[in-house]
Amino acid sequence: MIRPVIAADLRAFHAVMMAADMDPRSSWNRTTLEGLEQSLFAPGLGGFVAVDGGKVCGCVGFRPDGEDTLTLNKLATLPRYRGQGIGVALVRAVEQFASERGFGRVLLAVSQFNLEVVPYYERLGYVQADEIYAFASPGSPVPVVLVKAIQSPLQKVVT
Ligand SMILES: CC(C)(COP(=O)(O)OP(=O)(O)OC[C@H]1O[C@@H](n2cnc3c(N)ncnc32)[C@H](O)[C@@H]1OP(=O)(O)O)[C@@H](O)C(=O)NCCC(=O)NCCS
Repeated sequence: MIRPVIAADLRAFHAVMMAADMDPRSSWNRTTLEGLEQSLFAPGLGGFVAVDGGKVCGCVGFRPDGEDTLTLNKLATLPRYRGQGIGVALVRAVEQFASERGFGRVLLAVSQFNLEVVPYYERLGYVQADEIYAFASPGSPVPVVLVKAIQSPLQKVVT
């Protein structure tokens, strides 16, 4: 089941991120509980969790960058839950949210230390873009930016 993240999920969300086995050089591994709380629960920000039998097994966050762009961040699935479509379902949840709220696109950044995940997003329709990531970690190498156009629900009815 995919549902919006709530405050009580904070530790479990963080634990899923820390279990992702990211490259130690990535700023991902320096995410603190306090930093995560600020990036999920301020007005306009949020995320989703995947839950299996009450256990959080996947997570994703989002954050607007202007009126047209919703950025997707912190996508992770616990290793033993991978390959079951949970990651795709979490990405779709953010895309659905973006569509409902009238964002024209979803944008995400992939760390230079995690480039093997780029084809994963490309399979989901994301295209590399020569853009600056607004929320890049200071001191980290410039990430790869990927973008996907999102149809509004109205456009879907019309087309
Ligand atoms: C990336 C990640 C979230 C994918 O989660 P997941 O739940 O395994 O994803 P799904 O099960 O929805 O994957 C769907 C498909 O993508 C494929 N896939 C998974 N990782 C891939 C990769 N790196 N490149 C290309 N395809 C990939 C799966 O094999 C699966 O293919 P199939 O449907 O043909 O079997 C997970 O591997 C993870 O947590 N990685 C560590 C954290 C991370 O890198 N996050 C991204 C930060 S930008």
